[in-house]
Amino acid sequence: MKHTLSLLLAALLALPLAVRADQLPGEAKAFKCTGCHGPAGMKSAPGQPAIGGRPAEDLVAILLDYQRLRRINPAMQALLLGMDDADLEDVAEFFSLAGGAVDTAYLR
Ligand code: HEC
Repeated sequence: MKHTLSLLLAALLALPLAVRADQLPGEAKAFKCTGCHGPAGMKSAPGQPAIGGRPAEDLVAILLDYQRLRRINPAMQALLLGMDDADLEDVAEFFSLAGGAVDTAYLR
């Protein structure tokens, strides 16, 4: 009984996370990018490029450049080398949709 209750509790606690991850396509995968690029890709600190609100296909092309070592940046390579094409499309779609939702005037 105690075991069943803790399972139920764990399932209930996990529910809001599961729902949140589905709010925008790619949001869960994009989480690891937000530390540098900001929650909506509109940068979290000066010096990080804003990537939000740009066409997804443009972002995919850039991500492929990093992944295939045509453009070098250690932070980007470290993440992208572990992602497949579908992952790149998902995070690109997320930042394309999410961008512009956050006012970044304070960073300029
Ligand atoms: C540790 C910090 C860090 C993380 C995490 C990170 N980036 Fe970046 N990203 C950077 C920096 C710094 C640059 C600029 C590098 C350069 O000049 O090539 C950059 C560049 C980019 C660019 C090119 C922007 C432009 O205008 O040319 C895109 C797109 C991008 N990142 C997307 C992502 C995505 C998607 C993720 C998650 C999978 C991610 N980044 C994770 C730091 C980070």
